[in-house]
Amino acid sequence: MKTPFLSYIPFLKALTLLLVAFFASTSAFGRDDNIANVYARGSQTLNGKWRVIVDPYENGFYNHRLQPYDATEPAYAGYFLDRTVTDRTALQEYDFDTAQMLTVPGDWNSQDDKLFYYEGSVWYRRTFDFDATEAQSRQFLHFGAVNYEAHVYLNGRKLGKHVGGFTPFQFEVTDRLQDGQNSLVLMVNNERHKDAVPTLNTDWWNYGGITRDVLLLETPETFVSDFNVTLDSTGEFIEITTQLEGSQLSQEITVEIPELSLSKSVEANAEGYAELRLPTPPDLQRWSPQSPKLYEVVVSSESDRTEDRIGFRTIEVDGRNILLNGEPIFLRGISIHEENPFRGGRAFGVEDAQLLLGWAKELGCNFARLAHYPHSEHMVRVADEMGILLWEEIPVYWTISWENEETLANARSQLKTLVNRDRNRASVIIWSMANETPISEARTMFLKRLVDDTRELDPTRLISAAMEVHSEPGKGDHKIVNDPFGAYTDILSFNQYVGWYDGLPEKIDRVTWEIGDEKPVIISEFGAGALQGKRGDALTRFSEDFQADLYSRTVEMLERIPGISGTTPWVLVDFRSPRRPLAGVQDGWNRKGLIGDNGVRKQAFYVLQDYYEKKKEKANKAKSESEDAP
Ligand code: GCU
Repeated sequence: MKTPFLSYIPFLKALTLLLVAFFASTSAFGRDDNIANVYARGSQTLNGKWRVIVDPYENGFYNHRLQPYDATEPAYAGYFLDRTVTDRTALQEYDFDTAQMLTVPGDWNSQDDKLFYYEGSVWYRRTFDFDATEAQSRQFLHFGAVNYEAHVYLNGRKLGKHVGGFTPFQFEVTDRLQDGQNSLVLMVNNERHKDAVPTLNTDWWNYGGITRDVLLLETPETFVSDFNVTLDSTGEFIEITTQLEGSQLSQEITVEIPELSLSKSVEANAEGYAELRLPTPPDLQRWSPQSPKLYEVVVSSESDRTEDRIGFRTIEVDGRNILLNGEPIFLRGISIHEENPFRGGRAFGVEDAQLLLGWAKELGCNFARLAHYPHSEHMVRVADEMGILLWEEIPVYWTISWENEETLANARSQLKTLVNRDRNRASVIIWSMANETPISEARTMFLKRLVDDTRELDPTRLISAAMEVHSEPGKGDHKIVNDPFGAYTDILSFNQYVGWYDGLPEKIDRVTWEIGDEKPVIISEFGAGALQGKRGDALTRFSEDFQADLYSRTVEMLERIPGISGTTPWVLVDFRSPRRPLAGVQDGWNRKGLIGDNGVRKQAFYVLQDYYEKKKEKANKAKSESEDAP
């Protein structure tokens, strides 16, 4: 018997609601690939004071039946409607105009003591004016990062949602902007979840909020949405790819490097894609820590133009050596968390980057590990300017849900966004897939997927991860590095805490290392906790003396490790961690910094500085001897 048509109605209604909900919850206006080079685009900053409402019960998102208000359009309620009370009889129990304010960019934890430990939802609202008469053809909202999940609304309507606390995302708002005042509202939630990336437990503070720049970008109708400019692996050619976006795709693309009198034009294909190859001019100055030369590169089409400052260098491995511009290099590094100790909150701007990388330079570094998640674009651009090579990673940290497809998709998306954002940065030489993840088949296959993605996205850089070290039972003095994931990486890296979590510093003197593959080795962490100003003998935990002694012994041990090509001790400066409660010593800070949260250098700072000075002299001597050799 045929089902009468009317019986379909409830099903169709449910389907419509589902579709609307689906489009509402994923990024209807979200972009898979972010527009590149945002700071060179015409834009209006939306940084500054935002009104906020702390909403632990998500009362502004769900009705009392826990149904999301934004599941239907137009919504009948929800804080994202940003309604103002006009009539005294009106019942409204929120009002952004009278709500407290927080600064964006910035985490909420360090701006309001009541929110120091807060994990939950906070609503942010910013109004801004838009002058349609003056505007270019298209507009996009750009968020540098929002930790962890963001639901974004413009003028009461949902733009989409983003998951991941350390990578940029964008929404096109050309058809959603109003001439005059606009209301931008976000519900930001930083709750930790087992299947998230990172997962539930980390050793850093779970800062919540709109933690990086917010921009309203403007572009022509058809514009250069992405480009990549790099030396090929031989260094003989400059390889360029460009991507147009818009309706006029088959335009002529021109790439110029004025300082090198280089210019080349080609026709983009029907998809707006173009590839160019230029022979490397003999007078091109390679980018290196000693001379971080950046060239202005202009990419233009008939309707658009964008310029960037780009350095040219090659990076490769040769047996146990890492070669920068064809020369072996020892990576004198330090690990850095994205935190400004003086503010006791997330770092986000150029000044923060100059502070942290300035300390690394003072230490004698030519390399830094940006742990354990993508840092801001400012950090990477300042490293380009200052001449500090970088290791970047995504927060695949400790015990992630290896068999969860959504977790994998999340990690892949964060990786892709990071690589696309920073692939024009000469300073970035290593993409790291993970940190201290327990060996299992599922884990190694998860990480292998990330390696495959990275090789496809960017075949020009090196891949690594902070891998596992073990000892045979009863043979704790002999360390073995043969993590199966090492088969897929270019560099073998591992964290080791001999003398701190593993014995006392005297053990460092007798430890031996067995490191399988013939690949370069980086010790991606070592260190000890020390409260700045605390003194004692070299066996007094948390004293500067203990830390300094451990450093002295460890730098000597490094020289005994086969294939050692670099290290990034843990860590540049003390940082906040909820895992460090020891009163009077840690007080919520991981004290392994070489600099205290008060900015004062600890003794170990000078031990490492001295070691790096000697490494530098040795490298310069070897270089001048090889240059002098017939
Ligand atoms: C680990 C981890 C760091 C942590 C450090 C420590 O190796 O990678 O995130 O902070 O050890 O224990 O201090």
